[in-house]
Amino acid sequence: MPDLKEQILSALRVVQDPDLHQDIVTLGFVRSVTIDAAGKANVTICLTTPACPVKDQLKVQAEQAIRGVPGVTDVSVIMTAEVRSAKPDGNKAPIEGVRNIIAVGSGKGGVGKSTTAVNLAIALGKMGARTGVLDADIYGPNVPGMLGATGRPKVIDNRIIPMPAHGIVSMSMGYMIDTDTPLVWRGPMLHGVMKQLLHEVKWGSLDYLVIDLPPGTGDVQLSLSQTAPVTGAVIVTTPQNVALQDARRAVAMFQKVNVPILGIIENMSYYLCPKCSHRDEIFDSAGGENTASRLGVPFLGRIPLNTTIRESMDVGRPVAVTDGEYGKIYEEIAQRVAQQVSLLNTDSKRPIAVVREK
Ligand SMILES: Nc1ncnc2c1ncn2[C@@H]1O[C@H](COP(=O)(O)OP(=O)(O)OP(=O)(O)O)[C@@H](O)[C@H]1O
Ligand SMILES: [Mg+2]
Repeated sequence: MPDLKEQILSALRVVQDPDLHQDIVTLGFVRSVTIDAAGKANVTICLTTPACPVKDQLKVQAEQAIRGVPGVTDVSVIMTAEVRSAKPDGNKAPIEGVRNIIAVGSGKGGVGKSTTAVNLAIALGKMGARTGVLDADIYGPNVPGMLGATGRPKVIDNRIIPMPAHGIVSMSMGYMIDTDTPLVWRGPMLHGVMKQLLHEVKWGSLDYLVIDLPPGTGDVQLSLSQTAPVTGAVIVTTPQNVALQDARRAVAMFQKVNVPILGIIENMSYYLCPKCSHRDEIFDSAGGENTASRLGVPFLGRIPLNTTIRESMDVGRPVAVTDGEYGKIYEEIAQRVAQQVSLLNTDSKRPIAVVREK
């Protein structure tokens, strides 16, 4: 007869991770099993992200499985998480302390990249991941305003200290310069600035560094992909045809520089009139989801066009900070992004999505 601990481990083998298609024991998620004198089992399960969308489901299943083991009188399951690092890229220096870099881009301007990047970072932070956001829009930095963060960053031992706000840290040219003065960077200068923002900032220990890119497929995107090992890219688009064309270009550009696509987010998907509840699909409908399926990349969710979202950015308190309806939308999207990152870091065989035009 195996001892109780063995029996508990064996019972836990029925709990499957729905994404990784393996049980939590085989995956090494069960970190400790102890049984006290009264027969109470204390189990710790460590997932690959605190933003795991199936965390609660796995906890319930584990509790049920353990309860079924004869001799167990009570159960306590503690869920923790340890975010895995992106696989090392021999050609690019990792950013000290940063486990994953998530680039947020789009082909077209004004589709809501910065809004999405900032809310995504805050949602990840809120779920317990150590998160930073880097404003790579060095011509027109918006991140400080959206975070409501002001002042100049400190410099300690020649390293810039990122600015804290809403549970995350951030860095932007906006903290360093007078934001009303337009900036003109030449190519080589721009590369130097990107390098500094990535490598000379003391990011500390971060699970996710979200990068808010400027629109298009230009110098900044190229510089980022050459300077840092980007785990994956999230593409933001509106459902409108012109935005989708540009989104496809952005997907192709990231694939060309070997950055995996984590998925597509459809922003400004629809407008729900607060007075009459009429749903207006201002920029057309479902374009983001259809494009994702045509390109063979994950669809990460849709965000409505909404006054509360816009106002929250203007006053520097993004909706993701709150638990309301819109906070929840960003939370779910953040979970899907974290899930894609976990999949990339766990399964070396996950192919880089290939553009498959039908
Ligand atoms: N879902 C939304 N609902 C309402 N307003 C939104 C939404 N998403 C973005 N906005 C607003 O649209 C404008 C453009 O958004 P944002 O600055 O995030 O776009 P962007 O893609 O980063 O632009 P750029 O290409 O200039 O960097 C902002 O005023 C923002 O507040
Ligand atoms: Mg922007």
